Amino acid sequence: MPRHFKIATRLSGIRTSGIRRLFDLAQGVPDVISLGLGEPDFVSPPHVLEAAKLAMDEGKTHYTPNAGILELREGLVKKMKQDYGLTYDPQSEVLVTAGGTEAIFLALTALVNPGDEVLIPDPGFVCYEPNVLLADGVPVSMPLLEENNFRLDADAVMPLITDRSRVMIMNFPNNPTGSILSYDAIAGLAKLAVEHDLIVISDEVYEKILYDNVKHHCLATFPGMRDRTIVVNSFSKTYAMTGFRVGYALGPKELIASMLKGHQYITACANAPAQYAAVAALEGPQSFTENMVREFDRRRRLLHSRLNEIEGFRCVLPGGAFYAFANVKQFGLSSEKFADYLFDKGKVLTVAGASFGELGEGYLRFSYATAYNKVKEALDRIENAVKTFS
Ligand SMILES: Cc1ncc(COP(=O)(O)O)c(C=O)c1O
Repeated sequence: MPRHFKIATRLSGIRTSGIRRLFDLAQGVPDVISLGLGEPDFVSPPHVLEAAKLAMDEGKTHYTPNAGILELREGLVKKMKQDYGLTYDPQSEVLVTAGGTEAIFLALTALVNPGDEVLIPDPGFVCYEPNVLLADGVPVSMPLLEENNFRLDADAVMPLITDRSRVMIMNFPNNPTGSILSYDAIAGLAKLAVEHDLIVISDEVYEKILYDNVKHHCLATFPGMRDRTIVVNSFSKTYAMTGFRVGYALGPKELIASMLKGHQYITACANAPAQYAAVAALEGPQSFTENMVREFDRRRRLLHSRLNEIEGFRCVLPGGAFYAFANVKQFGLSSEKFADYLFDKGKVLTVAGASFGELGEGYLRFSYATAYNKVKEALDRIENAVKTFS
């Protein structure tokens, strides 16, 4: 390494994800139960796997159009029409990306000028803050509070808006809290965005992972929102396709064109066989997702009720995604130290709430994307670990 070598401040100032830290700790340790992972534990549907294999056998292993294969863009347009009655042009208003993660990065790079403020949920998905910083923006926390069931609230957001506010990132169902939003709450936030001329990046990757017969409302359906919203979505969660790395963005054509420019120079296109697999996911039976969500629901109820029975834990019933966000303040440790304690004593991996923002401190995120019996055993282990806590 050259003596004067230094990592550029752009990246040196950005912290490593707290989620990674724990996985690194667990490497090589036997008998660990992970409630840390943010991905479904289900195998991707067989017709999706077949489509990927077929694409490879047919030699579809080359670059695709930068925006993604037309078949997939048309499939996404059809989905948006069917699910939400929204109309998009497959030629100019859809971009297929390498996961929702890339779409978020591109949207921020396309929208944020140095010093622009970006409202982000706190606690929120680990990508938001670093991506705002990479775009030279200023992240501003929008509080998701336990007393409000971690729901975003327009009244709490309003005082945070300044002359520099440009973008708001919304994410419901939410990672890490599992919170959802009522129709009226979304309408309130949408109204705020219109009044203050904000663009909204609406991260809807958990749109299909909802419980108790609740239906998702896409932000772009609200009055005045279609042309100021970039809807970000992904195949990762709905179809258990995290490793395929296919996500997408839908929005007004000027914005999609700018994002496409970035995408062209960063990844050129999403993985070709994976795009064919994604077409099969959209066209095939949707019962895979329904069955998966039914199983998540069983685990959700177990985790919620058992955690609340353990002295020192307090947990709101999550309405979506596959996370529970439990208050552990009574133990008097930082969330990172307490996660370490559960790992050392019980060999259970959880994620410290502080990894998701300042307001996540005092909480642990539990993912229930792990077999029911494993969740059960993890809870037994946590209960025992807590008995010896002093
Ligand atoms: C809220 C949220 N958005 C986006 C993503 C990105 O998913 P992917 O890049 O796999 O599409 C995740 C993954 O955990 C997430 O939780």
